[in-house]
Amino acid sequence: MKRSKRLELTTRGLCRGLVLSESIMKETTSAADFLPPQRTLKALRLAAAECQGCDLYRYATQTVFGEGPQKSSLMLVGEVPGDREDKEGHVFVGPAGRILDEAFADVGIRRSEVFITNAVKHFRFEVHGGLRQHHKPSGPQIRACRPWLEAEINAVKPQVIVALGATAAQSLLGNAFRITASRGQPQKSSWAEWIVATYHPSAILRAPKKDDRDRMRQEFRDDLRVAIAKSGT
Ligand code: URA
Ligand code: SF4
Repeated sequence: MKRSKRLELTTRGLCRGLVLSESIMKETTSAADFLPPQRTLKALRLAAAECQGCDLYRYATQTVFGEGPQKSSLMLVGEVPGDREDKEGHVFVGPAGRILDEAFADVGIRRSEVFITNAVKHFRFEVHGGLRQHHKPSGPQIRACRPWLEAEINAVKPQVIVALGATAAQSLLGNAFRITASRGQPQKSSWAEWIVATYHPSAILRAPKKDDRDRMRQEFRDDLRVAIAKSGT
């Protein structure tokens, strides 16, 4: 074979390799390919445990899927599991979960009545001083994981979704949405009859001044009451 022909074939092979790896990269930037044919919560939970829709599954312990009754009129959406959630495999079982449970008790609902999930299902962290510290998921990771959230919403069909913090709110209402400007105001949406956005419980914990923490705790309860009233729970 002439040298030029061999070169041409090698180049073609290389190009094909590039196209192939590009398409693999594309395929692995969404959870969409991992969704099961059956969309019950049980089938979804099993399939999500195997998801490799973005890079986060490589470093986290396990997928933390949403929890709660199959038919809940109220669904709460957080951001991403934390260290405790990652280890235990359940949503909101760490410090942020404590804030949530205290608020539930004050507004008169039980955790077992509502469906709770996150915008992103695998813990994202950075290691500092030997400790795994929560790190906000990126836009591409939030988009990659959205098929699971969408499938959970389609399975549960809540009347009202409470978006806890900016990540959940922007994932559901668009990037222009601002918690500071619009928290507690029910928004019409195609995801559910209403979306009510409020603080993320961790933001309450992190506020440096006690006065701010107290005010946010109160506003968090007010927002939950708005959501409960809209849901008819
Ligand atoms: N923060 C979240 O957003 N979700 C959890 O499950 C825990 C902490
Ligand atoms: Fe899949 Fe979501 Fe986990 Fe990424 S974070 S691997 S999309 S379940």
